[in-house]
Amino acid sequence: MHAESQKVGWLEGILEAIHDGILVIDRNGIVQLINDEYTSITGVKKEQIIGKPLLDVRPGAMLPYVLQDGKPQAGVFRKENTREYVVDMAPIYINQEIIGAVSVCKSIPEVYQLTKELKKSKMRISELEKTFGRMHQAKYTFSNIIGNNDRLLMMIAQAKKAAASDLNILLSGESGTGKELFAQAIHNESNRRSYPFVPVNCAAIPSSLLESELFGYEEGSFTNSKRDGKVGLFELANQGTLFLDEIGDMPLDLQAKLLRVLQEGAFRKIGGLEEQKVDVRVIAATNKDLLGMVQKDRFREDLFYRINTVHLSIPPLRQRKDDIPDIIAFLLNEQKSIPDARIEQEAMNTLQQYDWPGNIRELKNTIYYAISMCEGNEVKFEHLPDTIKKLFVQKAKPFQPLEVLMKETEKKAIIKVLEQTGSSVKGKKEAANLLGISLASLYNKITRLNIQQ
Ligand SMILES: Nc1ncnc2c1ncn2[C@@H]1O[C@H](COP(=O)(O)OP(=O)(O)OP(=O)(O)O)[C@@H](O)[C@H]1O
Ligand SMILES: [Mg+2]
Repeated sequence: MHAESQKVGWLEGILEAIHDGILVIDRNGIVQLINDEYTSITGVKKEQIIGKPLLDVRPGAMLPYVLQDGKPQAGVFRKENTREYVVDMAPIYINQEIIGAVSVCKSIPEVYQLTKELKKSKMRISELEKTFGRMHQAKYTFSNIIGNNDRLLMMIAQAKKAAASDLNILLSGESGTGKELFAQAIHNESNRRSYPFVPVNCAAIPSSLLESELFGYEEGSFTNSKRDGKVGLFELANQGTLFLDEIGDMPLDLQAKLLRVLQEGAFRKIGGLEEQKVDVRVIAATNKDLLGMVQKDRFREDLFYRINTVHLSIPPLRQRKDDIPDIIAFLLNEQKSIPDARIEQEAMNTLQQYDWPGNIRELKNTIYYAISMCEGNEVKFEHLPDTIKKLFVQKAKPFQPLEVLMKETEKKAIIKVLEQTGSSVKGKKEAANLLGISLASLYNKITRLNIQQ
């Protein structure tokens, strides 16, 4: 008896802990148990119903029929006055004999509210996915890769072939050779083009944070982590391409986790129990000698072979100097504010002789700098950055025609004097006096030497 009442106590405790309304009848249809939630959903109080035949107190109740035919019913809609709820009903068996039946009800407003919230959340997720997709679009295609050098053309052909496959790719090359440009072009050429292209720079993110950036974490995994957890870049890149830049800087323990994703197509969030499937193509890039790092145990050999399935090594600019004129022409042509921008032969010769340790990025910056330095639309030797000029000045200067040197000297002198006198008419008169020429002749030179005022 004592054990029996203890059991009832347990059962009641359990019933009260459940968020749904519960009603239990015995085999004779007499109500044995209800919980508080049942009362709040239906408005029926315990003292009105316990110990009474259900059909007497709740005419139209269907639970007694479940008792008769032994078949469970799900999602039955009930409406009484203003109260609406959904009921699931099931017989209770002991030793294959029906000893009663249970009804579980959820109030409609709650179900309805949850459905509405779910719908809203789904809409928000799909909006965010679209925004994210837009934010993570690769800008460049193969048409943006300039150059006709044989080695470069071969690389482009290989990259196009690799794009059509779904293999992982390793891009190697010095800084500024165009690794990211190739990665984007490959993504845009592949079947994944309408999905995200997500770049991660493994060297720019502190190694302690890289794992959570890549894989995300579950709610409350760290004391300071965001309450709701974090979605990792692998998950965000799903169906698209993850560009792992500077992969040589990835810590060894993380390399092991990366290898697992590449092998299994699944990963586990930090603090997560379940494996999550992802479908991501990895393009990795490095300017380091990864094989050398493997030999020094600083890069995992198994990972190296995983990402090295296709290896594209982009040649440095100094090994394809024949592309320099084309790239410069492209960059000059891009200058919408200076129509017909040109470069003089001497400056071009210098740029073709230079070794370009920073490759195309350095060439790009050099041209932008020179354009900002020149007054007209022609880039000249004098407009190049000092670092480059210094290397060539002894070689270049003696071969300058006298006429060019004289013009340059004239131009410099006029600019200097005008700086002093100002370029108003009065200032120009004074400048002409100082220079010992007539005002008309000064005007003439200002136009001819293309002096900006
Ligand atoms: N063949 C090319 N034609 C036109 N622009 C190029 C070419 N190669 C590179 N660039 C441009 O040069 C710049 C550097 O390229 P990118 O960022 O792809 O180099 P990277 O190899 O990733 O360099 P890093 O190792 O420093 O990250 C970019 O602005 C890119 O658009
Ligand atoms: Mg890069």
